[in-house]
Amino acid sequence: MRTLIKNISAIHGARPAIPSGALAGAEMASLPSLENAWLSISGENIEALGQMDSAPSEDGFQQVIDARRGMVIPAFCDSHTHIVWAGSREGEFRDKIAGLSYAEIAARGGGILNSADRLNATSEDDLFAQSLRRLRLAAARGTGAIEIKTGYGLTLDGELKMLRVIRRLREAMPQIEVRATFLGAHAVGRAFAGRQAEYVSHIINDMLPAVAAEGGCDFVDVFCDEGFFTPDETARILDAASRFGLVGKIHANELAVSGGVQVAVSRGALSADHLERITDAEIEAFRGSRTIPTMLPGASFFLGMPYGPARRAIDAGLPVALASDWNPGSSPSGDMRFVWTLACAKMRLTPEEALNAMTVNTAAALGLSPLGFGTIAPGAPASLIITNPLPSLSYIPYAYTEPWISRVLLKGR
Ligand code: NIG
Ligand code: FE
Repeated sequence: MRTLIKNISAIHGARPAIPSGALAGAEMASLPSLENAWLSISGENIEALGQMDSAPSEDGFQQVIDARRGMVIPAFCDSHTHIVWAGSREGEFRDKIAGLSYAEIAARGGGILNSADRLNATSEDDLFAQSLRRLRLAAARGTGAIEIKTGYGLTLDGELKMLRVIRRLREAMPQIEVRATFLGAHAVGRAFAGRQAEYVSHIINDMLPAVAAEGGCDFVDVFCDEGFFTPDETARILDAASRFGLVGKIHANELAVSGGVQVAVSRGALSADHLERITDAEIEAFRGSRTIPTMLPGASFFLGMPYGPARRAIDAGLPVALASDWNPGSSPSGDMRFVWTLACAKMRLTPEEALNAMTVNTAAALGLSPLGFGTIAPGAPASLIITNPLPSLSYIPYAYTEPWISRVLLKGR
């Protein structure tokens, strides 16, 4: 099947070739554009693009889409989500309004353990149905590749149930590229309360081998932060996971300067995420490493935390990725459109830098650069968003509650 999109006012993110990895520092400001354009798709991939004065004949295309002077941008890649969960936690939202902190809510039985209780009491089919609804929402809002973590089971059975649900999501919506991350070390499971060391051993000796045997898992994550897991425990879990071929993508420095960045870098993790608190030492640690600093402004917004210093990191020459952190506690939204606005309004990224951070760089943070996700180039997946007619690219994060998506194509569908 071949599709032609015609009358595009501008294709933003149109690159001559697929970038080999993340854009860093000043490179992030560059978003190549092609004005007055057409784009053709063959099967799942972009075939060619060019300017309207050289548009191909419409014969030979089974489908012709008139963009009516809307723009085309790459679909978002959301490199950090927890969308497999059961129920909701708006009760904790009320607690937060009343003045309780994230740590106080967790200490009262809320937080991650609350979601684990609900998930373990929910059937796999029900959990799948609830999660599929979220995945569909993400797709409708322009997300074309997504990372999904476990970490609300915290028992061997619960974690494996989550992995099976992620597998079913991947099969139900093959047009979205899904990557799975094992996050058994999200919190200490209830059965191990007060016995954190034993829980870490359980993860290493029992959970990791079972996760590897189950298959379909790409990465391993640890919540390396104050009150959760230590850098030493994180290192042990990452080392054990590497024997099963699982690469690290860790939570670090959300609640304190945790040492997590240094562990992530030393273990060759693909990303270290959150980073609401980082010092010059972390900036230096990232430099020259393959670990991509990933920030989650939706969590900063929702919990009233500081925003990660993305501007400082980019000015220091680092790549920065931006993801939604969609989860029931700290970021109950997976809308990358809002992440875009937060990046500009709160982190002082330009609209171009922010879009690169949510496409090319999050694709790199998922190991998807070689496949071309996040880029518009011949051979890349035809995962893109057609906008309504808009004055400019900057109008998108600026007019931040205005509907602007006309149509989303994922892998040509
Ligand atoms: O990424 N920080 C740890 N985990 C999640 C929150 C999980 C929850 O509250 O359920 C996060 O923010
Ligand atoms: Fe998270």
